[in-house]
Amino acid sequence: MRKPVIAGNWKMHKTRDEALQFIFNVTVKVPNREFVETVICAQAPVLRDLVKRQGDHLRIGAQTMHEATEGAYTGETSAALLENIGVSYVIIGHSERREYYNETDETVNRKIHQAYRYDLAPIVCVGEDLSVREAGDTNLHVSAQIKQALKGLNEEQVASLIVAYEPIWAIGTGKTATPEQANDAIKNIRKVISALYNAEIAEQTRILYGGSVKPANIDALMQESDIDGALVGGASLSSKDFLTLVEAALPGK
Ligand code: 13P
Repeated sequence: MRKPVIAGNWKMHKTRDEALQFIFNVTVKVPNREFVETVICAQAPVLRDLVKRQGDHLRIGAQTMHEATEGAYTGETSAALLENIGVSYVIIGHSERREYYNETDETVNRKIHQAYRYDLAPIVCVGEDLSVREAGDTNLHVSAQIKQALKGLNEEQVASLIVAYEPIWAIGTGKTATPEQANDAIKNIRKVISALYNAEIAEQTRILYGGSVKPANIDALMQESDIDGALVGGASLSSKDFLTLVEAALPGK
């Protein structure tokens, strides 16, 4: 049994006051993390404040980090600092980072290794754009991203990895992939991991869906065999909606 994960990606939203209000609203209501992992990924300057108030079951993640240990990389954040301030997760290779900040499958791979050198759980994003989907090349494209991302990782690292399948055409568009489309792509990712490692490892890797996940569609997504949770943008900005998504991911729901 894979433990579900609901991760909010706030992107570049919320001031410190707004972020603290959100955490205050959710922290006592977040279910036990033995049953579901609940994560909020916020902008770097507010991470420490959120970690201090995360409570027993919520955990805090960063939205990106640099692959180098330290150095002359103005504006970047290191894994060492994230670990040092108590951040638990880090999103790696989000499509917006790939599109606007030149992240590639190679940098994604280096960042995953770096996250594991520190005590950070990587949430690795993959997904195709509309032209790839329409050309029927989704699985080909995503398989290549996965193969490159996982290079050099050992079995234990892959078993504990969180992957997020986020079709770019579904992000912030209100156009969700159907539960079947999401599950098919995620099953393919598991197949690729199984071929690279083995079926037992692939059965342990958590694979989330992301792209216009809302309270109205989470139940159908969670019913699919291979979807282990969600990486949520817009709907994670509302504490009420976010808690609804977390509740929907509880096993036995
Ligand atoms: P939306 O939920 O706003 O579509 O964003 C998805 C996403 O990019 C999460 O990382």
